[in-house]
Amino acid sequence: MDLYEELVHGPGYAVCPVENIQLFKKLRDCFIEKINISTESEKNINVVRKAMAKMSKAEINRSMINLLTFTDLSDMMINSCPSLVETLCGKELFIQRRAHTIINVPGSEHSKQWTHYEMMSGISPFTYVIWAPLHDLEDDGGAYHIDQKSSLEVMKKEQEAGLVNGPTVLNMMEKQKPARLKFGQVVVFNPFVLHGNVPFNSDLARVACNVRFQSYNKPLLQKNSDYLKYYRLP
Ligand SMILES: [Fe+2]
Repeated sequence: MDLYEELVHGPGYAVCPVENIQLFKKLRDCFIEKINISTESEKNINVVRKAMAKMSKAEINRSMINLLTFTDLSDMMINSCPSLVETLCGKELFIQRRAHTIINVPGSEHSKQWTHYEMMSGISPFTYVIWAPLHDLEDDGGAYHIDQKSSLEVMKKEQEAGLVNGPTVLNMMEKQKPARLKFGQVVVFNPFVLHGNVPFNSDLARVACNVRFQSYNKPLLQKNSDYLKYYRLP
């Protein structure tokens, strides 16, 4: 099955290799430099993760302000996977102006991202998301994705019951097993696929980035040029 088939008619998500690993390593180095947490000169993601694992959510939020200067994160993510993006959306795109960086702190006391799908946030149904951890995922700190068929069944059930985020969705977190990816692997998924993460134990925080993109020729929904920018792949 080719990637487009997998994403549109198949499971709705796929694990893919980063195509430009040099650029992706540069992205990780930029993150370490810009978040400015470690005092060591050596660029080591695990040193940063270890420091962040001991920080409170509020402290992490404060250091996230440092990432406001990371203005080319979106472009770097898209350019790390150019053929993947082109296969799904062509060369002319709308991409998220500011890709997200998410830092998850270990420990059950930290609230976790409950099961959700991206359409909830008002992006168009033609949008895809690339989700990329900045290190190997050796514990349950990653993300789980639920195949499109099961996701749609859950949504239909909720619709029939007149619910959004009812108990079925909220309780899904309990039995999920996040994928263990290597640095240099990404998950690409469509906006109908349910996903989330679970509490995990580790000495290290989890760092991942995500970026949304769609074809320039497909309609937008609520999100417009405040959120997206025109981008042409080289
Ligand atoms: Fe999400």
